[in-house]
Amino acid sequence: MPVSARKRTSAATSGASADARAAPGNAARAALDLLLHRYSVGPKHLCEPGPTDAEVQVLAHAALRAPDHEKRIPFRFAVVRGAAKVRLGDLFEDYGRRRGKSAEDVASERERAQRSPVLIAVVARIDPAHADVPPHEQWIAVGGAIANAMNALQLLGYAGKMLSGARATDPRIAAAFCDAGETLVGWIAAGTAATPPKPRAPDDPGAIVRRWGTAGVDVARAAVSQASFGYFDHDADVGVFGRGATIERAFENAARATFALMWLPRDVARRDEVEVDFEEPDVELALVTWLNALLGQAAAQRLALADFALVRDGDRWHGRARGEPWRGDLPGGTGVKGATLTALAVRPIDGEFEARCVVDV
Ligand SMILES: Cc1cc2nc3c(=O)[nH]c(=O)nc-3n(C[C@H](O)[C@H](O)[C@H](O)COP(=O)(O)O)c2cc1C
Repeated sequence: MPVSARKRTSAATSGASADARAAPGNAARAALDLLLHRYSVGPKHLCEPGPTDAEVQVLAHAALRAPDHEKRIPFRFAVVRGAAKVRLGDLFEDYGRRRGKSAEDVASERERAQRSPVLIAVVARIDPAHADVPPHEQWIAVGGAIANAMNALQLLGYAGKMLSGARATDPRIAAAFCDAGETLVGWIAAGTAATPPKPRAPDDPGAIVRRWGTAGVDVARAAVSQASFGYFDHDADVGVFGRGATIERAFENAARATFALMWLPRDVARRDEVEVDFEEPDVELALVTWLNALLGQAAAQRLALADFALVRDGDRWHGRARGEPWRGDLPGGTGVKGATLTALAVRPIDGEFEARCVVDV
């Protein structure tokens, strides 16, 4: 039966009802996808150009949009570019000498200050005695500012890395950047990625999100259910769905939903990795193939899997999953035999993609 003619009988129970929220457009989805795949790029892998002064203002604007209790703005940026990098090199060289480093290491201290096209020092202004905003909330605002600036850097097409290290706490270097009561947090090294950043191990949002206050028979499912994946009832079997800004993210989340039926992601160590490769032009069949390939690998290699990453190149799909060997003390849930064509659908919904099907349990 052609996939497009297959009867779709999914009954969503995921709270995907129509609401007043504006569906994100393509640009918002693309931005979200970039945010979900932001990786730091260290100074060794940065080249010119770095952000212009006008673009640094955009980074500062993004930093000012971070959550900040009472809008204290407990941070400021100091931009180091051009000749100022030579001055920073002097400071680093002096630091190396004071630390008793070899001539070669002292020279590399100077070089360290020159490596990045632009350095943006992050200076925190924490009031330890503020009446309403305790220091930890002020520091959180500083962290939010750094995160927003890093994200904006990526969205502007640049790359970078937040760095601190022993130099940031060195009194002489800190004094060169700070006024009284200020703390040098470190520097955002900013420039253009010389090579594409290497993707890190897949993130596992399910491991840090739990529903609070849920009681009842389905606690395990509720504990891992969230907007990005979940379940729907289907006769004696279970329907799984995953959502994401792209089809690949939706498939990764459908895999999370499938494997979370067997083990809670938070219980599974990410020690071993398996890869699955397949060719499938039909995206709906690709979902079933992806899930069954993972279930097959998990059974063959006796692995509990919890982290999933999928890349698509036309009809070719390349996936990775991480987990650990089955062990007796791993709290088990429902065994999943395989993904089926029942209620199979891959479709845009609420401005993202949803991938769903029924799995045999
Ligand atoms: C305030 C702060 C200081 C940091 N200092 C360093 C550092 O000195 N050296 C380092 O390798 N990473 C440092 N990091 C971590 C990196 O910036 C980066 O987040 C980490 O390597 C993870 O990479 P990712 O951003 O691609 O996930 C720091 C992060 C923060 C927020």
